[in-house]
Amino acid sequence: MKPKVYVELPRDFFHEDAVNMLSKVADTLFEPLSKEEFEEVIAESSAAIIGLKRIDENFLELAPKLKIVARFGVGYDNVDVEACTKRGIYVTITPNVLSDAVAEHTFALILSLTRRVIEADRYVRSEWAKGEKRFPLGVDLKGKTIGIIGCGRIGSQVARKAYGFEMKILYHDAVRNEEVEKRFDAKLVSLNELLRNSDIVTLHVPLTDATRGMIGEKELNLMKESAYLINTSRGPVVDQEALTRALKEGKIAGAGLDVFALEPIPLDDPLLKLDNVVLTPHIGSGTVETRRAMALKAAENVLYALKGKVPPDLVPEQREVFLKQT
Ligand code: DGY
Repeated sequence: MKPKVYVELPRDFFHEDAVNMLSKVADTLFEPLSKEEFEEVIAESSAAIIGLKRIDENFLELAPKLKIVARFGVGYDNVDVEACTKRGIYVTITPNVLSDAVAEHTFALILSLTRRVIEADRYVRSEWAKGEKRFPLGVDLKGKTIGIIGCGRIGSQVARKAYGFEMKILYHDAVRNEEVEKRFDAKLVSLNELLRNSDIVTLHVPLTDATRGMIGEKELNLMKESAYLINTSRGPVVDQEALTRALKEGKIAGAGLDVFALEPIPLDDPLLKLDNVVLTPHIGSGTVETRRAMALKAAENVLYALKGKVPPDLVPEQREVFLKQT
């Protein structure tokens, strides 16, 4: 009998090429499933490919045969890695393949704000031809300062693109990134210095105890009134209530958000009433090419685990543990 692989995505969200790769050796079962169907499937699954579902003791209790939790993405704040390690379950991510897509989406949000793309679209549809009101001006990116918080895989790609726009680049990270300094003339600064001096502040940190709420009222108060905040990392990195207040009171000019405290963001959330925000539904990595590459990577990791081999994209906390054993 073939092993079972549970995929926390609908069939048509997981690229055909990855499905074919898995189907040769496993039975692949997709969402949507009822609670009963899910419990039946996960009880028999050797591998789980997961999106943003919480993988904790409760989940693992239901999955006694599991060898691997393969995240379809790079953030793994929703996975209790320690609980998985204790049970000998690998946790993997899909690094590198999505960095460009997230960096491109970061610029989609930046340009939507600075060139007022959403407002411009509404204006063309309802007002331009009436000739009553002129469309307000945007602002240039060239010569402006971008502050990149978290300059790892994704942050460095944002730096590369910002350099193309001839922006000045500041970054803040616990680890120095000499390559972005050399190639893109980026400067490592303290968080406060970055917040005070940037025209665009963009977040590219994982969600951890150290980054939860790292942008709150105090940090927003340090930003320029003309500055924009971009978040394509994780919603809880920002205190969303403080951000909503800052946007309402004009403490900053606007925000481009792909991630939220709660997802999906409820339709009655006050953020949705504001005009100075551009909001997207957690689609940083959402391109055809990138989602295919992510599906292939997740499938590759699963195939390694099913063959009893250590998968290539283990989370850092597990590298020591499992690589030592080989
Ligand atoms: C990631 O890579 O973690 C993205 O947010 C998709 O979940």
